[in-house]
Amino acid sequence: MKVNNVGIYGWGSCVPEGVVTNFDLEGMVLTSDDWIRERTGIIKRHVACRGEKTSNLAIIALQNAMEMGNIKPDELDLIIVATSSPDMLFPATACIVQDAIGAKKAAAFDLSLACSGFVYALCVGAQFIQNEAYRCVAVIGADILTRFIDWSDRKTAILFGDGAGACILKYKPGNEWWFFLGSDGSGADHLKIIGSGSSDYTPSGSFQKRLPTIQMNGQEVFKFAVRSMVKSVKNVINESRISFEDISKIIPHQANKRIIESVRKYLNLKSEKFYINVDRFGNTSAASIPIAIDEAYRSGVIKPNDKIVLAAFGAGFAFGSGLISL
Ligand code: ACO
Repeated sequence: MKVNNVGIYGWGSCVPEGVVTNFDLEGMVLTSDDWIRERTGIIKRHVACRGEKTSNLAIIALQNAMEMGNIKPDELDLIIVATSSPDMLFPATACIVQDAIGAKKAAAFDLSLACSGFVYALCVGAQFIQNEAYRCVAVIGADILTRFIDWSDRKTAILFGDGAGACILKYKPGNEWWFFLGSDGSGADHLKIIGSGSSDYTPSGSFQKRLPTIQMNGQEVFKFAVRSMVKSVKNVINESRISFEDISKIIPHQANKRIIESVRKYLNLKSEKFYINVDRFGNTSAASIPIAIDEAYRSGVIKPNDKIVLAAFGAGFAFGSGLISL
């Protein structure tokens, strides 16, 4: 899917101060720093403290993006927050962000699609600019998934971190973006937060209150991740008729270094083509891609006008890629 005349004017991100290292986890579950590094590439992750909310991180990420783009609050027409760990089921976290920023004329809504949320939200936000409905759209990916971890489950406790990333979209004549989005709900059971919604999740069928908790079939998620990212990256490259040489970086969802390595092998590309920061942040869900872009941009790894490819996958199953220029 082609999207015309959209440009990015500012990136920002925010992670909580608290850090949990693999060594810290050794004291909580039967695991080891070696195992986690070898199977995931993760060394540490930032974890929100008590009282810290998804909106807190989203607000700072957006303020940083607005500062970079020199955007005033009353310029914002729309705020989209991609999150599957909102402050509450309602009100939408986007409305809380809108009020805190003082974006008085902005519409606001949340988009829930786990780790694929940011790429979908970017695509949705870009449509409002392309069709000239809005002039200035903020797209945020923000998650505090560590709230939903069973810290005694070593299969999930090692993977996730918290954070937020944001960008500002505005009209940029002549710019061409490409997206490919997809889903396969037959994989819904492989990655879910039980006890978090309207479904009856107790084996006996009787309703019982229980803390929402992430459940994951890691190997199924791994296979889907590789398949779907290879497919969606190839799609945006083929549709745009741009070659991999013209792409400065592929910025994949940062879930596991081995997943990214498998995708790299299938696409037959060099390691330098991929930007990876999962070692320092873990899987920050909808925030992972915008945090990585913000970091890469501010450190000069990617520059204005560079073409980059984003590749996401996650619960749903859902997946999506975007070929965008900065
Ligand atoms: N420490 C030590 N041993 C462990 C740990 C741990 N943290 N976790 C599992 N093991 C053990 C298992 O019990 C198993 O032992 P056994 O052979 O005696 O039964 C052994 O290690 C191998 O377990 P596997 O599950 O086969 O390990 P695998 O190599 O598949 O790695 C992992 C597990 C890291 C979870 C991997 O499957 C993965 O990354 N999957 C994708 C997960 C993911 O990306 N999730 C986020 C999706 S995005 C979203 O929408 C939220």
